[in-house]
Amino acid sequence: MVNEYEIKKQICDIGKRIYDRNMVAANDGNISVKLGENEFLCTPTGVSKGFMTPEYICKIDKNGQVIHANPGFRPSSEIKMHMRVYQKRPDVGSVVHAHPVYATSFAIAGIPLTQPIMPEAVIALGCVPIAPYGTPSTMEIPDAVEPFLEHFDAVLLESHGALTWSVDLLAAYLKMESVEFYAQLLYQSKMLGGPKEFDKDQVQRLYQIRRQMGLPGKHPANLCQNKDGMNCHNCGGECSSAHGSSTEADQELVARITKQVMAALKQ
Ligand code: 13P
Repeated sequence: MVNEYEIKKQICDIGKRIYDRNMVAANDGNISVKLGENEFLCTPTGVSKGFMTPEYICKIDKNGQVIHANPGFRPSSEIKMHMRVYQKRPDVGSVVHAHPVYATSFAIAGIPLTQPIMPEAVIALGCVPIAPYGTPSTMEIPDAVEPFLEHFDAVLLESHGALTWSVDLLAAYLKMESVEFYAQLLYQSKMLGGPKEFDKDQVQRLYQIRRQMGLPGKHPANLCQNKDGMNCHNCGGECSSAHGSSTEADQELVARITKQVMAALKQ
């Protein structure tokens, strides 16, 4: 078990990466990590996430109340948004919020990331919808994000930025990198005359790879994400759960068993 100080150092490292990779400007963005059912670490409000040291990091309970914070530091103004993710997704161990240039441009233009254009983005990420605009620091943002939590591991926040979550801090951060890389490829291929999309069969084969890898999280390979006008990977009504006879539970079982078999083979 990694100790708390180590996790604080990891939060600072990831904060620096986010800043150095132009995923935030000035004091923007925030990061949190779940330690236990009622203990979380989070970045403080109003500081550059590129220059933090472990003393900056605040400890809070599941209601966002301070358990410990050094003088001069208060938890992120967006902590309610992070807490809503942990509340609704017990599988989540970390949440990252940033304003990466390309992903945020899509969020401002009101265009979700749903086109199947490259294998890694389809396999690792799935689709990224847009949660309707909410005023920063208010309950409007957690309320806008909540309907997406059951089906996705990343959202664009309309006219604001991006939010990702996963099993641990590195995975949540890497998801943010994937969102931004996918958004940049989509933007640049649109500039070159428009991306060439995978067809349905190609998409289904990529979903199959995802299932075999047994990756955690919510993905169109394991559940239908087409709701509220969303058309993930242009699969129309034919998302994997609506495709064939296996249920979502069957598919999750197959993914779990495949993962166990692959782990056993590696030993
Ligand atoms: P905090 O510094 O309060 O975490 O806020 C930064 C931000 O990006 C708000 O959206």
